[in-house]
Amino acid sequence: MAIISIVNQKGGTGKTTTSLNLGSALAKQGKRILLIDMDSQGNLGYSLGLEEGPTISDVFEGKKDIEEVIQRREDMDIVPSDIRLVDIELSLIDLPDRHDTLNAQISGIAKRYDYTLIDCPPSLSILAVNSLYASEKVVIPMLMEVLSLQGLDQIIQTIDKINKTYKKKLEITGILPVMVDKRRKLSEEVKDYINENYDVRIFDSFIRNNVKASEAPSFGQSVVSYSPQSNSAKDYIAFADEIVKLNK
Ligand SMILES: Nc1ncnc2c1ncn2[C@@H]1O[C@H](COP(=O)(O)OP(=O)(O)OP(=O)(O)O)[C@@H](O)[C@H]1O
Ligand SMILES: [Mg+2]
Repeated sequence: MAIISIVNQKGGTGKTTTSLNLGSALAKQGKRILLIDMDSQGNLGYSLGLEEGPTISDVFEGKKDIEEVIQRREDMDIVPSDIRLVDIELSLIDLPDRHDTLNAQISGIAKRYDYTLIDCPPSLSILAVNSLYASEKVVIPMLMEVLSLQGLDQIIQTIDKINKTYKKKLEITGILPVMVDKRRKLSEEVKDYINENYDVRIFDSFIRNNVKASEAPSFGQSVVSYSPQSNSAKDYIAFADEIVKLNK
């Protein structure tokens, strides 16, 4: 059993795509998967064409237990989100146990799954802190660009702070290079910089830039299901193997 947050406070770094496709690729191996959307944009449920129903917002509002908002699909179980998370975020600020809401809800159910993957919002807000506090591990999907490096410092600092404040042992499993294109020289330089300056693994796997990855959500599927032979699907399948090996 592993609980992994997919985190990067920059927008559009492939968090949702990675949550969905890592989950889908692990499910293909027979692993039991729970995906939780913690972003008010609700992209995860939308990408899977989920029906409307109760969401993680109802859980944060105390109206439902997480059990009641799980949507069961053939391959994975999903906890969708919706726009109400924006207001919930504001209301959480004044509460004393504000970091613990998600953790308290998933600690009972996570043992039923081999992997619980949490799709984080593009911020290091209290909702992201809830996700991190509920997790044991972190995967950071990242574009190998110079501007991404600034964000990396902030993620590492936030994780250190959570570990110190709450006596946690949250660890960064690694950085996943995403949307990798032909400008490989620049990405190699960014990789070298990370290797020299941070004690964080860059996964051997990386995800190529591939139009199929951006098309798949319009078909309500992961790219792993929609176009298994595409480059991005193959890359996510390889990444799932790497994650399984690292979690042995
Ligand atoms: N490997 C890829 N190749 C091409 N396009 C991709 C790839 N991965 C993701 N995309 C596209 O890039 C955009 C951003 O991806 P995604 O929504 O997964 O990022 P995100 O980090 O979840 O964004 P946000 O911060 O808004 O939550 C989407 O349009 C997605 O379809
Ligand atoms: Mg997203």
